[in-house]
Amino acid sequence: MTISQFVFAPEEPAHDAEIEEINAEAFGPGRFTRAAQRIREGGPHDRGLSFVALSGTNVIASVRQTPVKAGEGRALLLGPLAVRPAWKNIGIGRRLMAMALDAAKKTGWPAVVLVGDEPYYGPLGFNRMPRGQISLPGPVDPNRVLAHEIEPGAVARLTGMLDHEERAKG
Ligand SMILES: CC(C)(COP(=O)(O)OP(=O)(O)OC[C@H]1O[C@@H](n2cnc3c(N)ncnc32)[C@H](O)[C@@H]1OP(=O)(O)O)[C@@H](O)C(=O)NCCC(=O)NCCS
Repeated sequence: MTISQFVFAPEEPAHDAEIEEINAEAFGPGRFTRAAQRIREGGPHDRGLSFVALSGTNVIASVRQTPVKAGEGRALLLGPLAVRPAWKNIGIGRRLMAMALDAAKKTGWPAVVLVGDEPYYGPLGFNRMPRGQISLPGPVDPNRVLAHEIEPGAVARLTGMLDHEERAKG
């Protein structure tokens, strides 16, 4: 199995049900109570900056990005990222991450943040954020709050409560 047999494409509404299944399989029922999910509930993700991997017509992996704000800063919140178990470890996650970051950069987003495993995301260009610089609407391990800076200084501008861009507008 090689990565070249899969098609990578922007997410479409028709993919929603399968993406929901993939995330249920990867994260279980606890996914609804995660701090990042509470932010995502504040408004829509950006489909143009969210991507799927397809095997034929089946969605086998997904990454989403959601516009967020904190203090004077704005960013994309990346996640969930999930790959169906049968297709793990062949580079699909990394490819989706590269597409997400490339799309963020091309559309002028200054930074991308996520809650995730540093050993996976570190080599993909994410660094741990300074402890306490931002908070999330729920408990989160500060060692898992990671950021990828696109525009110099953009991560330092993210301060205080991270929230969906639409909800942050009030
Ligand atoms: C994490 C996940 C998205 C990786 O996708 P993938 O397509 O399997 O990953 P890739 O093929 O791009 O990369 C595989 C490499 O990442 C490593 N890796 C996978 N998950 C990792 C983790 N949590 N921490 C550190 N390394 C990890 C693998 O060991 C492998 O290393 P190698 O290249 O040295 O062999 C996928 O395993 C998944 O869906 N997991 C369940 C959901 C999840 O945890 N999502 C991330 C939320 S933080």
